[in-house]
Amino acid sequence: MSELNLVLLGPPGSGKGTQGERLQEDFRLPYWATGDILRAAVRDGTELGQQAKEYMDRGDLVPDDVMVGVIAERISTTEAADGFILDGFPRTLPQAEALDGELDRLGRGLTAALLIDVPDDELVRRLSGRRTCVKAGHVFHVDFDPPKHEGICDIDGSRLIVRDDDKPEVIRNRLETYHEKTEPLIAHYDERGILRRIDGARTPDEVSDRIRATLATLRMEEEL
Ligand code: AP5
Repeated sequence: MSELNLVLLGPPGSGKGTQGERLQEDFRLPYWATGDILRAAVRDGTELGQQAKEYMDRGDLVPDDVMVGVIAERISTTEAADGFILDGFPRTLPQAEALDGELDRLGRGLTAALLIDVPDDELVRRLSGRRTCVKAGHVFHVDFDPPKHEGICDIDGSRLIVRDDDKPEVIRNRLETYHEKTEPLIAHYDERGILRRIDGARTPDEVSDRIRATLATLRMEEEL
């Protein structure tokens, strides 16, 4: 495949981060998760972090112009020459249109938008049991993917915490925001013929297998 330009689409807790890390290992492409970028900016107290914090704490979206700048400056770098994996961007129609425009300007296009689909009640279970490491954001779940030692990241030994936006009242707002603002992107990518639906209610390994099979099919179609 010449380039692999992927968008991971799906509600909060659907497993975009879990699958994004695996895709990054499989394809050795830059993986940009806007939530991780924003949380690092909040931690470091940068201007971006100061702009984003209050929106994130409420479970609202950070304004489009801020987010478009964050991604546009990354996808135009040489690091992204062979492709990229975007997680959490775009999240609104204006963001999707800005991404289309930026890729057009670069003479490129998206290979696929992978929609990881999970019902709301399962999302609440996943988000309320999620634990995230303070150092690098590695993700665990108290029931579905527990760390070997409680409260400690298996990968880098740092402390595991509950994300500020994984509190019950904020989870509800994040799900509502997804249905209202992000779900319209499903039709946007479907109309362009690049939407691929993945059943995200299966185990992480089964979801990875489905994603690999989907990408293998795309590669075969491209070679025909
Ligand atoms: P962000 O960090 O992107 O949050 P999100 O989209 O709500 O997604 P999550 O990180 O919560 O979930 P995920 O799908 O990655 O699931 P995970 O793999 O962790 O954004 C945070 C905030 O930043 C937003 O609310 C907004 O304010 C702001 N923001 C970010 N991007 C923006 C943008 N473009 N525009 C405006 N604002 C923006 O999995 C969840 C849990 O389930 C884990 O515990 C995991 O172990 C477990 N799990 C995963 N897969 C499975 C499985 N198959 N079976 C069982 N458990 C599983």
